[in-house]
Amino acid sequence: MNFSDTEIVNSILTEEGMEPVQEAENADVIFLNTCSIRENAETKVWNRLKEFRSLKKEKDDLTVGVLGCMAERIRDKIIDKEGLVDMVVGPDAYRDIPKLLSEVEDGRKAVNVLLSLEETYADIKPVRTTGNGVSAFVTIMRGCDNMCAFCVVPFTRGRERSRPMGSILDELKQLSEQGYKEVTLLGQNVNSYLDGDNDFTKLMYEASQVDPEMRIRFSSPHPKDFPEELLHVIAEQSNLCNYIHIPAQSGNNEVLERMRRPYTREQYLDLIDTMREIIPGVTLSTDIITGFCDETEEEHEDTMSLMAKVKYDLAYMFAYSERGRTLAQRKYEDNVPEEVKKRRLSEIIEQQMNIQEELNKKEIGKKHLVLAEGTSKRSDEQLCGRTDTNKMVVFDREDYNKGDYVEVVINDCTSATLMGEAIKKSSIEEFNSDMVTA
Ligand code: 5AD
Ligand code: SF4
Repeated sequence: MNFSDTEIVNSILTEEGMEPVQEAENADVIFLNTCSIRENAETKVWNRLKEFRSLKKEKDDLTVGVLGCMAERIRDKIIDKEGLVDMVVGPDAYRDIPKLLSEVEDGRKAVNVLLSLEETYADIKPVRTTGNGVSAFVTIMRGCDNMCAFCVVPFTRGRERSRPMGSILDELKQLSEQGYKEVTLLGQNVNSYLDGDNDFTKLMYEASQVDPEMRIRFSSPHPKDFPEELLHVIAEQSNLCNYIHIPAQSGNNEVLERMRRPYTREQYLDLIDTMREIIPGVTLSTDIITGFCDETEEEHEDTMSLMAKVKYDLAYMFAYSERGRTLAQRKYEDNVPEEVKKRRLSEIIEQQMNIQEELNKKEIGKKHLVLAEGTSKRSDEQLCGRTDTNKMVVFDREDYNKGDYVEVVINDCTSATLMGEAIKKSSIEEFNSDMVTA
């Protein structure tokens, strides 16, 4: 979401006649787009701001601005603290940046952290500088009304609002014309997307029709109101990817209740079964928080067993980090000691790595359609890209290029990556008809 927001800010700045530079030393204005989701995200920002302090000393008129979630949370602290920051702009106030910049030019500190009920930046065409030219993020809604007890997002990003479907589909058309081959539709809680009669299932169907050779992914849905109809649409439309990120957070019912996640372990597992029934071969990933307030050893074991049962292809695992203003901060005590959180986290990570390796081994010998995203990290002679099911694959470059769909046979793996041999350049349509005849 922050990458996507940065591209909106890029667009606003470009309209003002500003141009991006590669090195911070050459900039007149530096913006940091920030995240508040966990303490360590904020620590990183403070460290980065301190790095800019010496630049500010060398260059009197350098403007440093803090954008995003952290802006709203700690605007006063951020402005005062040793004059590190000149400008603070919350996630709904980016249109105000040009005006705020001129206030700073006049020698004032400038702040706008007001949240909005309507702002979706629907008419702003993002300037895509953060991606690889093959995959793009498209924001479909902003804010969140779920109020999970641990989460600061409803406070930093405000109320839920959906972007009009027409403007989303227009952006997808433009991306397809620009040669993008994959789009991820983004929102804090995509299954509550609503624009008139158009719900998320309808949006996904319409998105699939824009360009049959453009892959569509989405993140993140909530397990509490996941529409079964959407699973059928994903199963039927070959460019809707067979991969679902479905955050569980915990595998224990009491913890889920304390977290204000309105589903049970049993309901969650039923949903996973339904997903696998309707979309054979679907891959799954999740978010897990370990060491939430009052979490006992048994409750932790329930998370371990949920993860062992589901066997996720990928998991984002975090130690609980208390955030100001959340229900958990006001009502509960952050009472699982740091060492215990760490130990539980490493237990779930270790189990998860073993599961991933086991699942990846099963891929050996299988054919996949890989969308080449760019050069592999390890070697210039290799390309990397992802399968429809979101698994990263590395293969020899030969004559293939970034943006190609390549048919690849998997021949090796680690817990994180598949290695394969490229067979031929292909397309979604060709690959699917080959698979049917095979
Ligand atoms: N501490 C740790 N992890 C958190 N997340 C959200 N809030 C917190 C917190 N206070 C995690 C959740 C969410 C993901 C984006 O970040 O797992 O799904
Ligand atoms: Fe945070 Fe819960 Fe909303 Fe996700 S659904 S952004 S975890 S409040």
